[in-house]
Amino acid sequence: MEKRVLSTRGQLPGPGLDRLAAQVGLIRGPAEARPTAAALQALATGVSGILCLGNDLVDAALLDAAGSQLRIVSLASAGFDGVDRAAAAERGVVVTHTPGVLAETTADLVWSLILMARRRLGAARDQLHAGAWTTFHLHDHLGLDVHGTKLGLVGYGQIGRAVARRAAGFGVHVLCHDPYSAPDDGLAEPADLETLLAQSDIVSLHVPLTATTHNLIGATELRAMKPAATLVNTSRGGVVDEKALLAALRAGTIHSAGLDVFEQEPRGADVADLVAEARLVALPHVGSATEATRSAMVNLAVDNLLAVLAGKPAHTPLPG
Ligand code: DGY
Repeated sequence: MEKRVLSTRGQLPGPGLDRLAAQVGLIRGPAEARPTAAALQALATGVSGILCLGNDLVDAALLDAAGSQLRIVSLASAGFDGVDRAAAAERGVVVTHTPGVLAETTADLVWSLILMARRRLGAARDQLHAGAWTTFHLHDHLGLDVHGTKLGLVGYGQIGRAVARRAAGFGVHVLCHDPYSAPDDGLAEPADLETLLAQSDIVSLHVPLTATTHNLIGATELRAMKPAATLVNTSRGGVVDEKALLAALRAGTIHSAGLDVFEQEPRGADVADLVAEARLVALPHVGSATEATRSAMVNLAVDNLLAVLAGKPAHTPLPG
């Protein structure tokens, strides 16, 4: 009998979903909106695989609603903080994600945020858009240089390494801190977190959100940074204490910040203060958002699904 698979979104970039539909009985969730937990549970009943996004909640209730025939939850994302891994393991469900294919694209965005935040490009563009650019003056829009700085990477996995590869072109020296992945590429100098925070002009975060990394950067860590430092976060919002960051920006404890992620997403009026902060550049979680990369993420997620449903090992299971 044909296996049934749920895709929590009815449409995804690239050809991956159509490829999947040609091989399984595909149940499509809503085209755009994130389905509620109750809607997901109803759609998942009886499926052997679930293809979902990083912001879908994969908990025991969803796994149980699917049933004991469920073999795989395949995330079209590198992050996996929405998954109850213990519940999946208890039920013998394989969980896969899509690391690697988004590393270069996300690294490009990290450098965009570094440049935007240090050179205050968001505020400069806003002035132009508001029709408020009245004259050229040497003292307008003064930012801080990027070349000649020291960049501290917290987490040195595939994205951190891709960020480090770009640093040489900017004349930026790289420090890195990662208890699980030693720098073996000659591009970064290992440092403990304290040293990295104290010495870096730019601190960029590349760790998954776990109980250990939640609020990893809080008031104490922000105080440990240089007053002229920039904090960049493209990992998960929960890694930074947003209230402490707002206070630090207002007090001038650090120079600026670039955020692509928030503790709760999507965000609106509830973070208006943070987003309106002149020295913060904020984007709506677009780190991997290119046509090629989002298509590659879906393709890899589909490959993982088809492999596991065919009784083969997954290409990219979650790390142990
Ligand atoms: C990821 O892959 O984790 C990115 O944040 C996009 O979801």
